[in-house]
Amino acid sequence: MDAIPTMNISRGVITVLTPDHAELIYQYYLSNQDHFAPWEPKRDKDFYSLAGWRERITNSFNLFQQEMMLPLVVLDQQEHEMIASCNFSNIVLGAFQACHLGYSVDLRYQGTGLMLETLQHAIHYVFEHLDMHRIMANYLPHNVRSEALLKKLGFQQEGYAKSYLKINGQWQDHILTALVNPNH
Ligand SMILES: CC(C)(COP(=O)(O)OP(=O)(O)OC[C@H]1O[C@@H](n2cnc3c(N)ncnc32)[C@H](O)[C@@H]1OP(=O)(O)O)[C@@H](O)C(=O)NCCC(=O)NCCS
Repeated sequence: MDAIPTMNISRGVITVLTPDHAELIYQYYLSNQDHFAPWEPKRDKDFYSLAGWRERITNSFNLFQQEMMLPLVVLDQQEHEMIASCNFSNIVLGAFQACHLGYSVDLRYQGTGLMLETLQHAIHYVFEHLDMHRIMANYLPHNVRSEALLKKLGFQQEGYAKSYLKINGQWQDHILTALVNPNH
């Protein structure tokens, strides 16, 4: 994955999160703190610091260069703001050819179809260019927006994991879903 993929969509551009985006992602998480809190791990103070973001992005960019992660972000048309995120992590090759997907959209763009459009493009890229066979995405049973989004994308339930992730300070059950590459 040495080339940086970029994809134009109706309201912006999807690109790889690089160390140049530290300020934008810092602002994105800062301004969406309350919006994301029920759906994400509890964050410590360092999470909301620019220095913390510089370090995390450097790590994720290294993983991208080692072909172990595809950290994508959506920037608005002027590329002044980050408006969504979708991250393909835990990329495993060999007989598995699978990865996990995580995503979020800025509160101002929630309910507008931006996340759906982003994931349609990103998943196409992951299936066609990274040769992934399976993408796994898991959600809290009461995350109805996430459930609706995954259904629209064709993800199917594969399981139910008790006490699966520590979200917002509590170990919580998750619904496990996956999308299998229709072309191989
Ligand atoms: C989960 C999350 C990404 C879903 O985002 P979303 O905006 O609801 O998803 P979509 O992009 O599919 O948008 C769907 C909505 O856009 C509307 N919409 C408007 N224009 C549309 C268009 N052109 N195309 C598709 N949908 C459109 C749909 O009618 C739907 O509206 P509704 O929710 O009122 O029924 C978002 O709620 C989020 O970021 N939550 C916090 C973080 C989170 O939970 N992450 C996932 C953890 S598993």
